[in-house]
Amino acid sequence: MRVRDATEADRDAIYDVCLRTGDAGHDATGLLVHGELYGLAYAGQYLTLSPGLALVADGDTGVVGYIVGALDTASFDEQCEAEWWPALRARYPAAGSGTDIDRRLVAEIHTPFHMPASVLARYPSHLHINLLPAAQGAGVGRALMTELFTRLSAAGSPGVHLGVDPRNERAIGFYEHLGLTRHDTGAAVLFTHRLP
Ligand SMILES: CC(C)(COP(=O)(O)OP(=O)(O)OC[C@H]1O[C@@H](n2cnc3c(N)ncnc32)[C@H](O)[C@@H]1OP(=O)(O)O)[C@@H](O)C(=O)NCCC(=O)NCCS
Repeated sequence: MRVRDATEADRDAIYDVCLRTGDAGHDATGLLVHGELYGLAYAGQYLTLSPGLALVADGDTGVVGYIVGALDTASFDEQCEAEWWPALRARYPAAGSGTDIDRRLVAEIHTPFHMPASVLARYPSHLHINLLPAAQGAGVGRALMTELFTRLSAAGSPGVHLGVDPRNERAIGFYEHLGLTRHDTGAAVLFTHRLP
């Protein structure tokens, strides 16, 4: 398994991993009409706007996982507002159709979540990580996190945050094991981590 920078050629594979891990870490295929919404809402903008912080795990069968991040969440959010969300809002109107998940993802495209400034002050960076089941439990998640933390640190970030679905016990255990700090905030579990 090799960790390498993601390229535009990896976009479909990244969207596929995103869908197949979208339901609190489990396969969301068939749970929504527009399966591409997962990748468009949670991964594509990083490949386009934050390419130095988009990595894939590449094995014998191709891309089996990825990690994507943003150095400065506040300015990344502004960039998405200018360059990523407008085309998606036009493509997926707010009064969307489909399943509850289609509607939730379309709502996020129209009204993206913004992390409170109090969190961003100490933990300005953020990330998303997903691996297909066959690649889990073999150290790849740790390798991706380590490489992204190294890059964020080298770029001057003092800290990173991420959100997890409270149902995703496996991921919560993983972040706790890696030494991230857990904050139970209600709808999502927030993890924070200071970088060296
Ligand atoms: C969560 C995920 C990224 C973890 O990656 P992984 O490759 O399976 O984890 P690793 O094998 O690298 O584990 C790293 C360490 O964490 C430990 N660990 C992993 N999961 C754990 C858990 N649930 N509880 C306690 N420790 C755990 C491992 O034992 C390992 O310990 P060690 O390195 O000290 O020996 C991966 O399982 C995944 O992508 N899951 C599905 C998608 C998902 O839920 N993404 C996160 C959304 S927020």
